[in-house]
Amino acid sequence: MADFDVTRFRSHFPALAEGAAHFDGPGGSQVPRSVASAVADTLCSAVANRGQNTAAERRADAIVLDARRAAADLVGGTPDGIVFGRSMTQLTYDLARTLAKDWGPGDEVVVTTLDHDANIRPWVQAAEARGATVRWADFDATTGELDVAAVTGLLSERTRVVAVTAASNLLGSRPDVPAITAAAREVGALSYVDGVHLTPHTLVDVGALGADFYACSPYKFFGPHLGFVAARPALLETLAPDKLAPSTNAVPERFELGTLPYELLAGTTAAVDFLAGITPDAESRRAALATAFDAVARHEEALMARLEDGLEAAGRVTLHGSRARRRTPTVLFSVDGLAPAEVHARLARRGVNAPAGTFYALECSRRLGLGDAGAVRAGIAPYTTEAEVNTLVEEIAGIAES
Ligand SMILES: Cc1ncc(COP(=O)(O)O)c(C=O)c1O
Repeated sequence: MADFDVTRFRSHFPALAEGAAHFDGPGGSQVPRSVASAVADTLCSAVANRGQNTAAERRADAIVLDARRAAADLVGGTPDGIVFGRSMTQLTYDLARTLAKDWGPGDEVVVTTLDHDANIRPWVQAAEARGATVRWADFDATTGELDVAAVTGLLSERTRVVAVTAASNLLGSRPDVPAITAAAREVGALSYVDGVHLTPHTLVDVGALGADFYACSPYKFFGPHLGFVAARPALLETLAPDKLAPSTNAVPERFELGTLPYELLAGTTAAVDFLAGITPDAESRRAALATAFDAVARHEEALMARLEDGLEAAGRVTLHGSRARRRTPTVLFSVDGLAPAEVHARLARRGVNAPAGTFYALECSRRLGLGDAGAVRAGIAPYTTEAEVNTLVEEIAGIAES
């Protein structure tokens, strides 16, 4: 078992020198120096469009191929099945429109109220455009759990896509994705799994999850602001996205509209290498990632237990949907009688960054009875310290007493 030295880990992040306690990781993580340098170095290097003649062309090509290998190592995918794009949201819209091309009346898509809107609205709107039907799977608002049966009960031979989150960005709950994707496969439907919130916290294996498409965003795991989708190349070969006539029809390039952001791809590779470097000396990057996530998870779980116990002990605090069997270290809470935005603002004045809102998990917030105001969200990241958790708990106890 590898030890996790949080002080050493934090020294890699220039942004942490500002002193704020960052519980806003689910919205986006801070960035280590190596990632920032990889972005800057790429911008300071000769880079052209991909090719093999000039050094600049070869550099661009190598950057893309390296980033695909890194992304594939991170999620257990195939490099040729990694599609990069501006964001998870943009990629999901693109793929929803592409998949919907042969939908018609009578076809069905399944979405869940646990999901971020980026894995709901693209499917709802694509279905509307084709006259297809949307089926909604509800999670249990008391526990925060999405039961497998809530999804499988909606499946039929007309189901074309099941869109489900691997972890709720609002509550942290982790549905049983392998069971859901297996049931989808059984009726001939594709699964589109939103891994944006899960990927920073555990070693993902898209094969084990059974996901046909797995989407995530490097800026949630120390990388730059972009997104990628992992899929089987053979599946991508069957799809015909709208694209420019002169652009290549190769997979996965066919799905990558316009010129890729080479500097951000280099930053993505650096982010995966940084994660793998938490516990070096493994025989492969994938093996190093496995050990690293193991060490990070133990660190995060200990802090999560402390945070939830502390918040529960503070009077006038309500934790929302916090009883799912498996969760990421993410807590959603309210202080009775205070608007979430007010709690957020008061924490911010004390150097604690724990924002309030629905975080685009709008359906989830409404189902929890929190409407469009949501609640306060605190996410534990690998760079979170015990002292920061104590500060957050003390500040909330103080706010609740005042
Ligand atoms: C669970 C989840 N899905 C999707 C998204 C959207 O990701 P992106 O900003 O890459 O579009 C987010 C962003 O917060 C998220 O947390």
